[in-house]
Amino acid sequence: GPLEEMSLPLFFGWFLLSSARDKVRCTSMDFLKTLDTLDAFKKHLSDFTGKAEKEVDLEQYFQSKGTLLHCTTKFCNYGKAEGAKEYVQNPTVKDLYGSAFELSLSALFVTPRTVGARVSLTEEQLLLWPADAEKESESASLPRGSRAHITLGCAENVEPVQTGVDLLEILALQQEGQRGELIEEMELGSLTYYGEGRWLLTLREPICSPACFSSVYG
Ligand code: A2P
Repeated sequence: GPLEEMSLPLFFGWFLLSSARDKVRCTSMDFLKTLDTLDAFKKHLSDFTGKAEKEVDLEQYFQSKGTLLHCTTKFCNYGKAEGAKEYVQNPTVKDLYGSAFELSLSALFVTPRTVGARVSLTEEQLLLWPADAEKESESASLPRGSRAHITLGCAENVEPVQTGVDLLEILALQQEGQRGELIEEMELGSLTYYGEGRWLLTLREPICSPACFSSVYG
């Protein structure tokens, strides 16, 4: 009934604590600032502008959605999403609700649609990961947890759900054996270009972010 639906949240996820939030925002701003000054990026600028414009300010291009930085585990859509009720009934979800975790952010990625951070999940964190999160990927064989990410910003008229799709696309390319074009070793890590405006920065030092497993009713 409607009451039952009311009792399920919009989504579950790990919510970064404020210190980690600032650190992640600063790192991603640094990255965007550097990326749009690189010749390699300028060479592929039309991926972002569609026109022969000479410049793009990536910090303006991506709007942060103003939400708390988080890594979605299960999008429940108040119970309307497939598997939402099963997820809430999972004893591990109940047990670990409200607990603290340390997320490891291993890469940053940018596409013409989204900017995000890849999260590398531990075995324990994978217990909270829904079985079907990677099913949208065309290459069906990506390991569970591949989609785990934090949305840092979206281009105009792009919804945050796109960030996970963009990450899966890059990982599928890697799995097909495309190694991308190594652009340069930056202070933060190595920058690779995968074509069609897809940039991946593998962090030299993963960012360790304390986060709380909780939910949002929206
Ligand atoms: P993400 O986890 O990539 O940031 P919205 O504001 O659009 O309702 O979304 C709320 C959160 O749930 C966002 O964090 C968003 O994306 C995530 N989300 C929205 N739709 C889906 C979906 N169909 N599958 C997985 N996550 C979703």
